[in-house]
Amino acid sequence: MKKRNIVFIARSLDGYISGKNGELDWLESIPNPDNIDMGFGRLMEEIDAVVMGRTTFETVVGFGGQWPYSKHVFVLSHSLNEIPSNLKSKVSLLAGSVETILESIHEKGYYVLYIDGGSTIQSFLKEDLIDELRITTIPILLGGGFPLFGKLQKPQTFEHISSNLYLNQIVQNCYIRKR
Ligand SMILES: NC(=O)c1ccc[n+]([C@@H]2O[C@H](COP(=O)([O-])OP(=O)(O)OC[C@H]3O[C@@H](n4cnc5c(N)ncnc54)[C@H](OP(=O)(O)O)[C@@H]3O)[C@@H](O)[C@H]2O)c1
Repeated sequence: MKKRNIVFIARSLDGYISGKNGELDWLESIPNPDNIDMGFGRLMEEIDAVVMGRTTFETVVGFGGQWPYSKHVFVLSHSLNEIPSNLKSKVSLLAGSVETILESIHEKGYYVLYIDGGSTIQSFLKEDLIDELRITTIPILLGGGFPLFGKLQKPQTFEHISSNLYLNQIVQNCYIRKR
């Protein structure tokens, strides 16, 4: 089974994934009357599991409403000890180095992974473990916040695979790591 780590994330024009105070309301700044999912459903079909940081998990739980993931979710945290009882069959906790985390997820039979969360994505990129970037750009300048990308030891080259325009405003670009 081919292992693959996919980032699927929305960012501002100036490259932030959340605002200065962690705000995410700008993600919905373009009216989406028909609730088009911009590739999220297709991603869920492709992957075996989701890997996300604790902040992202708490944000999603805080949204309330229906649990959005149809695949198992691995939450990375050193501080969380318990998963809410309604999510216990859908969510597991993991901690450690990116390599040991991946090893443990692969051992459980999950190979195609959706990697989510600011520092989580950056820690995977630092180890050159991201195979695909699907980046949705919202046309707004936030002027500060949490950046999608951080420093790397050396450049990583990607091949552009596709571009999609949603709602006549939102561009989604997909890139595959050239190895
Ligand atoms: N625009 C978007 O599409 C999008 C998507 C996702 C997130 N966001 C936002 O991006 C912002 C920044 O995200 P973030 O960096 O705070 O989020 P994150 O990556 O979701 O969570 C960071 C936390 O994950 C845990 N963690 C990460 N790697 C770990 C490891 N190897 N072992 C154990 N624990 C590990 C740590 O939790 P502990 O402190 O518990 O140890 C760490 O504090 C947030 O405001 C988030 O809501 C935006």
